[in-house]
Amino acid sequence: MANQIEKNIEELRDLIREHDYKYYVLAEPVISDEDYDRLVKELERLEAENPGLITPDSPTQRVGKDLTKEFKPVTHKVPMLSLANTYNEEELYDFDRRVRNTLPPGEAVEYVVEPKIDGASVSLNYVDGYLKTAATRGDGVVGEEITVNTKTIKSVPLKLKNYKSFKKSLNDFEARGEIFMKIKDFKQLNKEREEQGEKLFANPRNSAAGTLKIQDPQIVAKRPLNIFLYMLVSTEEEFITQMENLELLKKLGFNVNKEYELCRNMDEVLRSCRRLEAKRESLEYEIDGAVIKVNSIRQQKLLGSIAKSPRWAVAFKFKAKQAFTKINKITWQVGRTGAVTPVAELEPVFLSGSTLSRATLHNYDEIKRKDIREGDTVVIEKGGDVIPKVVSVVEIERGKNSRPAKPPDNCPVCGSPLFKPENEVAYYCENTECPAQIKGRIEHFAARGAMDIEGLGEALIDLFVERGFLNTYADIYDLKDRREELVAVERLGNKSIDNLLAAIEDSKKQPFSKVLFALGIRYVGAGAARKLADHFLTIDKMITAGEDEISKVHEIGPSISGSVKKFFSSKANLNIIQRLKEHGLNFKSEVKKAGDNFFTGKTFVLTGSLSTFSREEAGEKIIALGGKVASGVSKKTDYVVAGENAGSKLDKAESLGIKILNEEEFLKHLKE
Ligand code: IVH
Repeated sequence: MANQIEKNIEELRDLIREHDYKYYVLAEPVISDEDYDRLVKELERLEAENPGLITPDSPTQRVGKDLTKEFKPVTHKVPMLSLANTYNEEELYDFDRRVRNTLPPGEAVEYVVEPKIDGASVSLNYVDGYLKTAATRGDGVVGEEITVNTKTIKSVPLKLKNYKSFKKSLNDFEARGEIFMKIKDFKQLNKEREEQGEKLFANPRNSAAGTLKIQDPQIVAKRPLNIFLYMLVSTEEEFITQMENLELLKKLGFNVNKEYELCRNMDEVLRSCRRLEAKRESLEYEIDGAVIKVNSIRQQKLLGSIAKSPRWAVAFKFKAKQAFTKINKITWQVGRTGAVTPVAELEPVFLSGSTLSRATLHNYDEIKRKDIREGDTVVIEKGGDVIPKVVSVVEIERGKNSRPAKPPDNCPVCGSPLFKPENEVAYYCENTECPAQIKGRIEHFAARGAMDIEGLGEALIDLFVERGFLNTYADIYDLKDRREELVAVERLGNKSIDNLLAAIEDSKKQPFSKVLFALGIRYVGAGAARKLADHFLTIDKMITAGEDEISKVHEIGPSISGSVKKFFSSKANLNIIQRLKEHGLNFKSEVKKAGDNFFTGKTFVLTGSLSTFSREEAGEKIIALGGKVASGVSKKTDYVVAGENAGSKLDKAESLGIKILNEEEFLKHLKE
């Protein structure tokens, strides 16, 4: 009897899976929604009566109940590379030439052309036919685990179709692809958000990527996410061609974009790219180019990769989409440094997936150079960045109402007089207490890459500054003492405040270099902050250091050192740092004890090109693990990490008898 129930449940699951596949992957449903719901209800009933028979791959288990506290790091078995870009036919022909020059002479090369989906890349790991984990790309080597959120996407199979019928070994493989949102679903989502007074997503890609990082899977399940798979990766199996892999992915039940084409030469490749570009506007989802891949996997392996990109594939980027619209007004926005930048307030216009109502004008010189005036009709363009820009003015449409704009004499936020340094194009508000600067500094402090306080974004910061809860970023750490006041603020409930306070506490773990970056010292970007933190090791040593000493730090120039000195000579800044210290933020670089790991206390020199990271990123990893990175090889060097085309440093290391690590060995130690 128990066996019979188990069999019934499994049959019902298979039936539902098949309907999911027909509906979400093939878009060819064969039963009505009511009949489908009936099947799901029946399965839910049987599982409720037999809870011991519930398995994680059951269609009822797509939406988890628990919040994801943290998206855990996952090391990719095979690094997730990104693609080099080409922008014209010539560059595409160069790519083909490089491919043929690298392969043995006379070998024919076939290419597969696919649309480049504009979404968030993901790797799905299947073990014994079941989805085990899903991970974001991250830095290509380590991503974040997003299994719970990915399971909510109905076109992601929790159990593979036809899994056992293939000759290939598919016990453990990764299917890689892109999670995206259809344009109409994205518009609908933004419409709902607008009605709820929530912040709008800039484009379908951001809304897909943002959704994947939501902690509550119940919310994720309501968002219309979708997926296309385009790559099969396994360390167990040798595949033959990309075309076969796409077919195999389809047979396993994955959603594969149908616009791919096999091309036998570059003329066919170009025709295929142009065909996709022409089709771009009529597709239901956003594409920003075509991807050209060498079809033979054997040839792909011969070609290998350089820096972070494969030599066997390239992206062909389509031209940025442009639109015409009118500038209603030119306004002036004050940033955290006090710089006042002009912004074009546009007649709202829809362009590549989103409605635009503002564009940056960079600075007053740019306005004068392009002769941009209020009331003008302009061409706007969305390039790689989210913020659109004004390309040019349509002068023949200039009417009587067109008005030249001039920077204001006073700060548009606090009213204090503006100042223009002689050697700069920007105008500045010099009042450090200006609310716009206060908000900007706090936003920078809480942002990703700095203290990374999830949930403390622009809208909340505006609100907290206006209510007087925040005046400096040190006040963030006092918010916990005002919990009741915060909960009383409309729209903020107990739960969201507790999440926020937990994120604030969690930010205290950020390392010194991030804290230093978060302070927002002018010209000190993330890279400079890391170099300063590695050199001085403590904030106290930095505070007492002279300008000369600071500028002696490798790659730290006079504008940075001057700015650092100025920052630390302000009493107000020192007070804030003191408060942050009392709250327990890290103001010392963590020096790991010798013997902690392979890298601790050892000196490395990086040379040649690595395929998985840039040299700078590899250096950061070494430093994070307690090692040192030197630029030249000497007797003090412990290891030389040699990538492709390593030159004289490798020769020197060999002559000095210094140990050499190839990329594979280096990665192995990183993963230990
Ligand atoms: S292949 C090693 N194919 O574009 C090959 N990527 O920088 C790597 N993308 O991170 C990916 N559509 O997120 C490939 N048909 C497609 C793609 C595609 C979109 C994304 C992917 C990747 C980025 C390239």
